[in-house]
Amino acid sequence: MAQEKTDKMEKIVSLCKRRGFVFQGSEIYGGLAGVYDFGPHGVELLNNIKKSWWKENVYDKENYFGIDSGMFKNPKVWEASGHTSGFSDPLAECRECNTRIRVDKELERVGVTADEKMSDEEINRLFNEHRDEIVCTKCGKKDFTEARSFNLLVKSNLGDFTSEASEPVYLPGEACQGIYLNFKNIVDTMQPKVPFGVSQIGKAFRNEISPRNFLFRTREFEQADTQYFVRPNENKEAFERIKKERWDWYISLGIDEKKLRFKQHENLVFYAADAWDIEYEFPTGFDEIEGIHDRTDYDLTQHMKFSGVDLRYTDPNSGEKYIPWILETSMGLGRAFFAVMTDAYYEEEMNGETRVVLKLAKHLSPYRAAVSPLLKNKPELAEKAREVFLMLKKMFGNIAWDDNGNIGKRYRRQDEIGTPACIVIDFETLEGDTKDTVTVRDRDTGAQNRVPIAELVTYLTQV
Ligand code: GAP
Repeated sequence: MAQEKTDKMEKIVSLCKRRGFVFQGSEIYGGLAGVYDFGPHGVELLNNIKKSWWKENVYDKENYFGIDSGMFKNPKVWEASGHTSGFSDPLAECRECNTRIRVDKELERVGVTADEKMSDEEINRLFNEHRDEIVCTKCGKKDFTEARSFNLLVKSNLGDFTSEASEPVYLPGEACQGIYLNFKNIVDTMQPKVPFGVSQIGKAFRNEISPRNFLFRTREFEQADTQYFVRPNENKEAFERIKKERWDWYISLGIDEKKLRFKQHENLVFYAADAWDIEYEFPTGFDEIEGIHDRTDYDLTQHMKFSGVDLRYTDPNSGEKYIPWILETSMGLGRAFFAVMTDAYYEEEMNGETRVVLKLAKHLSPYRAAVSPLLKNKPELAEKAREVFLMLKKMFGNIAWDDNGNIGKRYRRQDEIGTPACIVIDFETLEGDTKDTVTVRDRDTGAQNRVPIAELVTYLTQV
């Protein structure tokens, strides 16, 4: 089973590279741990996931607003949020080869829960009890230092270096802080009535001790967050609705429901009223894609205290002033991408051959369709195919031109990219009863239909 999981992981990583979805960051320099680049097909899939999320979290809702805040923030933001003092993971180092491990994750691997609230002493007590089971993956020794807290914020040198008082600035440890900072601006400019939501897709950076499992734990990633502002204590019903909406969204991406599950947090941070994860069964097992958190009034209270600005909301009818509570949903886009890829990946027999196919939902596929002339060296076919290609490209944008190799190879390639339809211009397109019709081959079934060129746009929109 473990081997099966490793194989699936390797196959997905290999497909991502082979077909231009994801590359190792700075690859020609030997890479940089925990950083990946999205290639031409990857960025299309990623953008389609983002579009679907934005539609769900802004356009399809009333009283939800989108923003895009700056990445650099006043350093006090990270003090107020608790990140400069408390945003850390327990780190230990192999005494033999200096490999660093994240002790809570290693403990988890041997079946011991170590949560983020634990002190260094508590973590070390558990670590010492299980040292015999934790092996350095690099040198195989079991000789580690004590665990110590390692802050994950990434420091930057932006700032006024001529001034002695200059403070370090940080890259965002989480994207959502930009929403809290703009709470007052949104209330003042949009006059929303509580409850209302603010949504944002933004980058986050964490100096992860052991980035691992491809896109799952990286040092640079994007988060798609919605913060829903409610009246104090009017959190329960909205929380349940939001949980259901988030679950349904993953289903709308075509993800198999059996590979999703909810997990409630056992030990809540001191300010939280409730917290759940949506987990997906990645090749490495079930793990978090998204956190759904009932954060009470903590974030606005902290920013009010540290900034000195009144962040209370005034009820337009009663004049009552209060600090809204926040219900947060925070999804890692890299993890959503990885879940979608894992779920869509199939190896199956078709026409006596084994093929790899990405059965992506059509609204997520990098291309809506690929257009090919049956034979590359027949100018009359190529000319007609270009005409069809340009017509479709004008309509859909994401249409591929593919005349590389024989038609079988093109089908295999487009299957691996997840293109739902391959359109082939053949001799029947040029003459006879079938003039001005094309073959459209379906990715999932391999079935081929003859479709008039004049009906192609409607066909692709409907099928
Ligand atoms: N504002 C809340 C927050 O940041 P989180 O649970 O730390 O909560 C939310 O992060 C989501 O961000 C996670 O569910 C996960 O999908 C993603 N995420 C967190 N750390 C990540 C990492 N190192 N690499 C990739 N995605 C990550």
